[in-house]
Amino acid sequence: MRVGVLTGGGDCPGLNAVIRAIVRKGVQEHGFAFTGFRDGWRGLLDGTARPLDIASVHGILPLGGTIIGASRTNPLAAEDGVDRIRETLAREDVDALVVIGGEDTLGVANELVERHGIPCVGVPKTIDNDLSATDFTFGFDTAVGVATQAVDRLHTTADSHMRVLVCEVMGRHSGWIALHAGLAGGADAILVPERPFDVDQVCGWMDSRFRASHAPVVVISEGAKPSEGDLVVKDASTDSFGHVRLSGIGDWLAGEIEARTGHEARTTVLGHTQRGGTPSAFDRWLATRFGLHAVDAVRDGDFGTMVALHGTDIVRVPIADAVATLKTVPDVLYEEAGVFFG
Ligand code: F6P
Repeated sequence: MRVGVLTGGGDCPGLNAVIRAIVRKGVQEHGFAFTGFRDGWRGLLDGTARPLDIASVHGILPLGGTIIGASRTNPLAAEDGVDRIRETLAREDVDALVVIGGEDTLGVANELVERHGIPCVGVPKTIDNDLSATDFTFGFDTAVGVATQAVDRLHTTADSHMRVLVCEVMGRHSGWIALHAGLAGGADAILVPERPFDVDQVCGWMDSRFRASHAPVVVISEGAKPSEGDLVVKDASTDSFGHVRLSGIGDWLAGEIEARTGHEARTTVLGHTQRGGTPSAFDRWLATRFGLHAVDAVRDGDFGTMVALHGTDIVRVPIADAVATLKTVPDVLYEEAGVFFG
């Protein structure tokens, strides 16, 4: 059996660890051969592929990024997309696909299995941790680590200058990174997409922090928005899944805080530093286990499933369950953090 592997959407630390585990177990224990498709679904459309054997995955466990590339290509946006995928699979003699991706990439896999009978097994990936049906996605822990370290550093320089420092983190629709890094880093306000924020209330928190002789640090998701206002976007153009480019809300908020409180306020945007570089030990562990279990699902012919973390167990769930709704931050968790605001 020959199995194709692709990594779609934004990259994320741990992708190479999944690829390595899939190839190691697939070759050693199941006698499979592997083909890596370049740049997510684009490789299936264009027929760009490379063989993946044990030698080619040597040493990649701690490497950030993905050795087979990633892109946000949506093959279903092309009229002949499914036919081109079928042609590529036939030409490369590939019998099944392991699709490593987030909501968009796995949404395509789900459609390909359910409507077109193309055998896919899913592996959940995203630093945003917003996929349903799994407790965690790999990449999230690394991103939270990067963001927490940044918040720690911002506290000391904020205090030296007695200014507000706003730290903008990734998180398009969900505030998981902001919530976890904000709690871990002792942020004085955490603002997430799930809860539109009141600028005056945020300014009140800033003032109360200064009254206690400390300079506040605010952690804000790129997708957060004020209760009266809109999402801040970089440009209005969209990718092939219809997403606009976010970022800018941190700067906007710093401007409002400065204008309304008179305290100097600056912004740090962490951006892709949260996605790049070596995965944390937890992400290596999770990604490796996901890879091992995904290749077993292929062996079992259990297509249309995605591997998922439930507690400490890796289980199989329908891909459809993972992509049906986004996993957002529940009110109860957000409110838990409120005791530290201001
Ligand atoms: O989907 C993961 C993510 O990191 C989001 O948090 C962010 O909005 C987006 O990707 C950025 O994508 P790109 O690198 O394509 O601009």
